[in-house]
Amino acid sequence: MEIKEVVREKYGQAALRVHSGGSSCCGAASAMDGCCDPITSNLYDSAQTGAVPEEAVLASLGCGNPTALAELKAGETVLDLGSGGGIDVLLSARRVGPTGKAYGLDMTDEMLALARENQRKAGVANVEFLKGEIEQIPLPDNSVDVIISNCVINLSADKDRVLGEAFRVLKPGGRFAVSDVVTRGEVPEEVRQNMLMWVGCIAGALGDDQYVAKLARAGFEGIDIEPTRVYNIEEARTFLSGQGVDVDAIAPQVEGKFMSAFIRATKPAGMQV
Ligand SMILES: C[S@@+](CC[C@H](N)C(=O)[O-])C[C@H]1O[C@@H](n2cnc3c(N)ncnc32)[C@H](O)[C@@H]1O
Repeated sequence: MEIKEVVREKYGQAALRVHSGGSSCCGAASAMDGCCDPITSNLYDSAQTGAVPEEAVLASLGCGNPTALAELKAGETVLDLGSGGGIDVLLSARRVGPTGKAYGLDMTDEMLALARENQRKAGVANVEFLKGEIEQIPLPDNSVDVIISNCVINLSADKDRVLGEAFRVLKPGGRFAVSDVVTRGEVPEEVRQNMLMWVGCIAGALGDDQYVAKLARAGFEGIDIEPTRVYNIEEARTFLSGQGVDVDAIAPQVEGKFMSAFIRATKPAGMQV
């Protein structure tokens, strides 16, 4: 519960910063100068940023671009877990067209208000932002074709429950297509904690093998994890030094081990829940 409250507070403030014309950046990485957060910046191409209101782009706090990698077809229903300011929901809504629907789910009132305002500015009708938690998705069983999410599952203290809920609401044959932070290989616990604090993963990111195991346990098949951005120690130097960490000493234990990745999986066809 405590983690959830910290997350809600942090993203509520981030949403308000967009309203007041500031940057929404709220990860530790945003302590860096200028607008060069190595995690959240430059995720979308100009065709995508041009297609949504500026505030939706400013509010973008993802670590990948699930809409670029997910296969979305006209008429499909898409659900974005932790939709924030709504950028991925608005982009998905265009992809599935007027016969499809894009839902955004978020627990933070300020983010929902921002997302709904962005929907109004974008003038898209096939979008609905729902208030709720990704551990308890307020949609029926077998009702969604594609689940997307952008840097949210790492924030949950109960990832098994989130993956179980994703499986429940997906239709048979439905696709899980999510960007998230993952770690790869052995990392000493203290180094891991410091790096994840830098990335802003409050509840902790999963190792790639743990992610695969949890998805399989939830019932998914065709599981694949594709790194999209691997972080290096120099990007985290300012933050880690400020935390009193000897960056040069831990550098060899960090290289190649912290990344954003695109995670794909499928609910088996013919599998109802
Ligand atoms: C890192 S931001 C990402 C927002 C958006 N996906 C994007 O790419 O800009 C995380 C968002 O997830 C929401 N969130 C975090 N944990 C959640 C939970 N357990 N249930 C629902 N929403 C959650 C936060 O309120 C916030 O809007």
